[in-house]
Amino acid sequence: MNGNLYGELFQTAVKAAEKAYADYSGFRVGAALLSADGRVFTGCNIENSSYSLTICAERTAVFKAVSEGVREFAAIAVVGSSGGDFSKPCCPCGACLQVLGEFCGGDLPVILADGTYKLSDFMPITFTKENLK
Ligand code: THU
Repeated sequence: MNGNLYGELFQTAVKAAEKAYADYSGFRVGAALLSADGRVFTGCNIENSSYSLTICAERTAVFKAVSEGVREFAAIAVVGSSGGDFSKPCCPCGACLQVLGEFCGGDLPVILADGTYKLSDFMPITFTKENLK
């Protein structure tokens, strides 16, 4: 039942990757973040001539959602490609995992080209607000 939904989310991420501004790496990334209330927030990577200012697709999607008052999420699809073939899995980077971990539990489904993972598959132990106590 989730298969169709996740398939659609994956295709939405592919569409989002078309918007990538990747003039330096040529690697286009798209993310589609499904909120608990059924909305979809897309994101793409946005690079910069000052390279380190680049923002990843996943964080673009999370920041869009949170800035709209949405903080509960049901799944995220992530795609990436340097040539338009999104059939190889694109693993979220550590910074994006950390940001997703701020708002999502380890059970968050992470949909990649080769299947559906859980956030905790990539980041089993995380730094959270609990560590600050
Ligand atoms: N990138 C993402 O958008 N998400 C990730 O999780 C990994 C990397 C982007 C950043 C940069 O624009 C390009 O991919 C190459 O690193």
